[in-house]
Amino acid sequence: MQKPIYKRVVLKISGEALAGNKGFGIDQDTLNSIADQIKEIHDLNVEIAIVVGGGNIWRGRDYKEMDRATADYMGMLATVINALALQDALENREVQTRVQTAIEMREIAEPYIRRKAIRHLEKGRVVIFAAGTGNPFFSTDTAAALRAAEIDAEVILLAKKVDGVYDSDPVINPTAQKFTSLDYIDVLNKSLGVMDSTATSLCMDNKIPIIVFGINTPGNIKKVIMGENIGTTVKGS
Ligand code: GTP
Repeated sequence: MQKPIYKRVVLKISGEALAGNKGFGIDQDTLNSIADQIKEIHDLNVEIAIVVGGGNIWRGRDYKEMDRATADYMGMLATVINALALQDALENREVQTRVQTAIEMREIAEPYIRRKAIRHLEKGRVVIFAAGTGNPFFSTDTAAALRAAEIDAEVILLAKKVDGVYDSDPVINPTAQKFTSLDYIDVLNKSLGVMDSTATSLCMDNKIPIIVFGINTPGNIKKVIMGENIGTTVKGS
């Protein structure tokens, strides 16, 4: 039988991906489909840590009149809502999970403790990291890069609504070309918008590859785990 090529991964799910076609909030069918896909790779004994965004509920950077730090904290709270929804959907599928938050809210979830997170992964639990890095001015992509480095994940699977990295926005430009692979430095120099520069630099410094792919097609996470080239891989040369 074919085996997964990764043992421990960080799966970054954008908040927008949870909204499906609703554009806002959480679409239950989309949430179910994502949870099914996560279960599929969990059943292959892949250790999965999830970092979830919050853009389906609140996008701090869109509120230019608001104090940036306050807007970012509101975004971090949005990621906690998404994390609890994912936890619920996964546990409905008999997948054991633990939510850890970067800002303490112990009545709701465990605080982030690196060694405990690793222990949970070793025990086969899916760990969902919420509240970003706990600091304003950092994105949840940076949280994914940071947590991946901390827990020694082999790769970041960057699950998006679009199916890879393009030379221009494929939603606006129908002739946009998809890259199959890119160097970190190209992402930084060409401002390709895969990840922000802080997150990309952190991955570059720690040699963590990023695979960008579309999560809205069922089965895609498994394809990536099995080594199929379906999106765009960002790594060093
Ligand atoms: P092991 O130590 O490997 O057995 O892990 P465990 O998570 O099963 O043990 P623990 O006793 O730490 O946790 C039991 C349950 O309590 C789990 O569902 C945890 O997510 C939850 N839990 C642990 N710490 C906290 C906390 O600070 N706040 C909240 N809300 N739940 C917690």
